[in-house]
Amino acid sequence: MGGYEIRRLERETGLSDFDCGELALNEYLRRHAQRSQAAHFAVTYVARRAGRILGYVTLAPSQITADETGQTGKPRYPLPTLTLARLAVDHHFQGQGVGTGLLRLSLREALRMAEEFGCVGVRVAAKPEAVSFYERFGFVQLTPSAITRPATAAPMFLPLNQIEDARGEADRAARHAHAHRALCQTPVIRFFRYRVPERRADLSYSLRARYKCS
Ligand SMILES: CC(C)(COP(=O)(O)OP(=O)(O)OC[C@H]1O[C@@H](n2cnc3c(N)ncnc32)[C@H](O)[C@@H]1OP(=O)(O)O)[C@@H](O)C(=O)NCCC(=O)NCCS
Repeated sequence: MGGYEIRRLERETGLSDFDCGELALNEYLRRHAQRSQAAHFAVTYVARRAGRILGYVTLAPSQITADETGQTGKPRYPLPTLTLARLAVDHHFQGQGVGTGLLRLSLREALRMAEEFGCVGVRVAAKPEAVSFYERFGFVQLTPSAITRPATAAPMFLPLNQIEDARGEADRAARHAHAHRALCQTPVIRFFRYRVPERRADLSYSLRARYKCS
């Protein structure tokens, strides 16, 4: 779905019309997102079109330990991550790419955070019904820890090096596409599926979208 903008939450109208089908996620946007942002607890980005809020994502810095990720060769102390604290799309617009667009922005923010302050990946406490959505982009499930809330949420993690790899592939594909205009006729997702394992293909696709040929 094109034709929408994603911007940092400001003095928004239409918050009360937003309905993703999950009361807690609706309520967060209506009542808490602006206050939370003003207090610097988190930052929310909204996808908007023609005065309507199509979806939103809330990001906050957090930490992860090597024990949680199961990675070896990492320091024992907690390492910086970006947390996808909330992600929701209005039910009228689900399945049209808005969630992917908001996730793409989040991965770009993780790359920026890594450059500026350090970041080893993106974490999310996924609702069980959203786990396969995140898996499409390369997130893997972590062992639930005592701090996971709510208890039913599945802790998931996408390491930064996978995001960097996907960006590298997207850049290479973009250069290739400029050299061979015919490639622009090919849906990029098919191009990546042809060249890389499927899990990374979806991530590459999501980051690749900004290089779409005109
Ligand atoms: C989960 C959610 C954010 C996805 O956003 P969306 O805009 O509907 O997703 P997209 O249109 O970008 O979907 C991208 C792909 O993922 C698939 N997908 C969407 N939701 C999915 C889900 N819950 N499980 C598995 N796959 C899913 C889509 O079919 C699409 O596949 P395609 O590229 O082969 O067509 C949205 O459905 C939502 O807000 N759900 C209710 C709230 C929620 O569960 N939020 C997550 C909290 S952790």
